[in-house]
Amino acid sequence: MEQTYVMVKPDGVQRGLIGEIVSRIEKRGLKITAMKMHQIDEETAREHYKEHSDKPFFEPLVEYITSSPSVSMIVEGENAITIMRSMNGATKPIEAQPGTIRGDFAIETGRNVVHASDSKETAEKEIALHFSESETTTYSRIDEVCLY
Ligand code: TYD
Ligand code: MG
Repeated sequence: MEQTYVMVKPDGVQRGLIGEIVSRIEKRGLKITAMKMHQIDEETAREHYKEHSDKPFFEPLVEYITSSPSVSMIVEGENAITIMRSMNGATKPIEAQPGTIRGDFAIETGRNVVHASDSKETAEKEIALHFSESETTTYSRIDEVCLY
């Protein structure tokens, strides 16, 4: 079963969108196995976004992501990585389709509400970066069935 890391970014928390985003994840059929509110520190933010360290938006991005609490989640399910990325929508809200989180709730790239890992390798790294082993859980959803 695939796992991904999802974050409601500070603007999402400040705008009262935690419930909306959690609800979409749950209703899609994905399983949240860890969740916490925490203010991400500078070192963690730099590690999280290190692939962008040479980009002009890197410093403002680190400042923004550390400015106020975020909500971090581990989300599990068949193809959870691809499904979460498609639920979030395109990075630039101008390109995000209505029906996606960014397409419904964002207009600025620098304030695009949510994050989700972009690959299996990234998901593993991001889960380990933001969660300790003791913060994770295992349980079955009541609608969890194995069809094959
Ligand atoms: P990126 O990894 O390209 O997008 P995603 O979050 O969809 O994986 O970029 C990381 C974050 O950096 C993005 O969510 C918002 C910010 N960003 C900017 O502020 N300006 C930009 O031009 C880009 C590409 C990203
Ligand atoms: Mg990315």
